[in-house]
Amino acid sequence: MMNPREKALAEFQKRFGWKPDFIGRAPGRVNLMGEHVDYNDGFVLPVAIDRTVAIAFSPSDDDCSTILAADFSSEIELDPHHLAARHDRHGQTLAGWALYPAGIQYILREEGLSAPGMRAVVSADIPSGAGLSSSAAIELAFMIAWQTLGGWEQQAAKLAVLAQQAENQYVGVRCGIMDQYASACGLKGHAIFLDCRDLTSRPVALPPDHSFVIADSGVHHSLAAGAYNDRRAACEEAVRLLREWLPDIRALRDVSIDEVENYAARLPDEARQAARHVAGEIERTRRAVEQLEAGDVKGFGSRMLESHASLRDLYQVSCTELDTLVRIAIDLPGCLGSRLTGGGFGGCTVNLVQTELVDAFMDGLKRRYQAKTGIRSQVTICQAVDGAGVVRL
Ligand code: GLA
Repeated sequence: MMNPREKALAEFQKRFGWKPDFIGRAPGRVNLMGEHVDYNDGFVLPVAIDRTVAIAFSPSDDDCSTILAADFSSEIELDPHHLAARHDRHGQTLAGWALYPAGIQYILREEGLSAPGMRAVVSADIPSGAGLSSSAAIELAFMIAWQTLGGWEQQAAKLAVLAQQAENQYVGVRCGIMDQYASACGLKGHAIFLDCRDLTSRPVALPPDHSFVIADSGVHHSLAAGAYNDRRAACEEAVRLLREWLPDIRALRDVSIDEVENYAARLPDEARQAARHVAGEIERTRRAVEQLEAGDVKGFGSRMLESHASLRDLYQVSCTELDTLVRIAIDLPGCLGSRLTGGGFGGCTVNLVQTELVDAFMDGLKRRYQAKTGIRSQVTICQAVDGAGVVRL
């Protein structure tokens, strides 16, 4: 089977009749710790992974763009004058994947950055709705393509912020900065410890002799479905209410676990559970990173398990299949930690496993999960790769 790069190149040649000038790639991500805290100004630990969106592209002759999604043979034509209305060149409403390139072009133009017409073909090997940030990867792929054709250059972190704005304002998902940051700023062999308040980050080396394994529950979700935005609203409500006693707080990041408990009885259920999860998860992520950097892989694995329990019981973004995957994983030899990764409500778990036992682990997880649920899980080892980039052909 062709990889996304080969497919994007071959399909470009087929569609337009000549070779593209550039090939770009933007990775998906898996988050190791710090879930549902990025939009609370918290700390996260994502890894850019070897699952990518590839984009083959060349400038077009005018302002308009022709973009083909090779994996599902869907083509759109964008005219900058129709972007604000979320229409294509012919006045038809944009839907689904087309909102991502359109949103990026829209935001760039708002920002005063040149985003000229292009001919492009994209192909990906990131399953959508699996919690591996296929959306952020497609956003970053178009971001770097337009950066190349527009002849401007911005820092990778700034590209991430612009892509997040496109998703928030144009696609309509109120996501945080983690996914776009990981796709833009990933580093080979490392996770990125990111402070989502000021966007400072540092690379954290992945532990030697251990592997991170991604297991897909087979239950896929759409973030736009609303549950994600509801959770975010519960966090904002918690901040609004807590300000009565803690007037200086700006986000749940500013509230300690003890403070949450002091005022817990005065918060409505949803806001209380949200505040408990977020304050706990931020603290846990800081500790987990210290442990990883000190070589305490076992400690890090324990923090992963606590994180899953909090996402399941307090924040309620897990589901039966994810809980089953975690339960099976942790009973298998060599597994030190397991948790859902990404937004939740389905998608994937990430598992920390001793490399010498990883083959048996993957096999055992697949077999037992299928026996329990009837679902065949895709289980893969993830490699940490660099963030998005382009090469001229
Ligand atoms: C999705 C969002 C991220 C983040 C995670 C949960 O992936 O895009 O911004 O909030 O969910 O940690």
